[in-house]
Amino acid sequence: MNYIKGIRLCGNYDQDYYPFNISAIRYLSTVGNLPLEKPVTFFVGENGTGKSTLIEAIAVAMGFNGEGGSRDFFFSTQDTHSELCDYLTISKSVSPKDGFFLRAESFYNTASFLEENSNMLRYGGVSFHNQSHGESFLALAMNRFEGNGLYILDEPESALSPQRLMSLLVVIDELVKNNSQFIIATHSPILMAYPNADIFEFSEKGIHKVDYRETEHYKITKQFIDNPDRMVKYLLND
Ligand SMILES: Nc1ncnc2c1ncn2[C@@H]1O[C@H](COP(=O)(O)OP(=O)(O)O)[C@@H](O)[C@H]1O
Ligand SMILES: [Mg+2]
Repeated sequence: MNYIKGIRLCGNYDQDYYPFNISAIRYLSTVGNLPLEKPVTFFVGENGTGKSTLIEAIAVAMGFNGEGGSRDFFFSTQDTHSELCDYLTISKSVSPKDGFFLRAESFYNTASFLEENSNMLRYGGVSFHNQSHGESFLALAMNRFEGNGLYILDEPESALSPQRLMSLLVVIDELVKNNSQFIIATHSPILMAYPNADIFEFSEKGIHKVDYRETEHYKITKQFIDNPDRMVKYLLND
């Protein structure tokens, strides 16, 4: 199910300043539309290429709090999102019934807010602060994500072990089969292996669709795992 079908950048803005000076964002203005045609879309690419900037702007333009949470959360500790959301035109289909925007870096605030304002039974019954970061995130996804929803996740892997990432793949698949859409910024070669997804790689050259095995993340991880001794030797100049 695609609640968001595409993204465009429109309006008058100054390309010399953040966030419009980021290569990927400039690219967006030249291509016109970034189509989101699959139930799962990944944003991948080096640190600093603009994945968080774009994903956060999409989330805010869709009515989520820039710090993370569901659309009925209006807590705010600080206004950190850029003005990019004001210049995004989002092609939508129907409205999602459920949704969540997760920023790994502010998950602690989101978790605190959830605990103060909701029945924890809905989230598996255990306080998020009494669980590890990974456990609490997975508990949130398994118990709080209800389906028929739009889920926007920024680096969910930062909390999760490889096994838990595989569990997250299963959770994502169940939700996709239950009419959900995911937009996920990630560095995890495990997560981005989800089948029938579009992977957009962000770089100095813009935003380009790539096959899973052609992503830098897959290639470099494979190169490392295939021969860690050789790679470490090379890196450390021994
Ligand atoms: N509030 C800000 N003001 C100015 N520059 C910023 C701000 N936030 C991020 N940047 C810069 O924008 C670029 C893209 O950042 P970000 O979207 O976080 O990248 P990614 O998520 O791909 O690692 C980086 O070069 C970063 O330093
Ligand atoms: Mg980021």
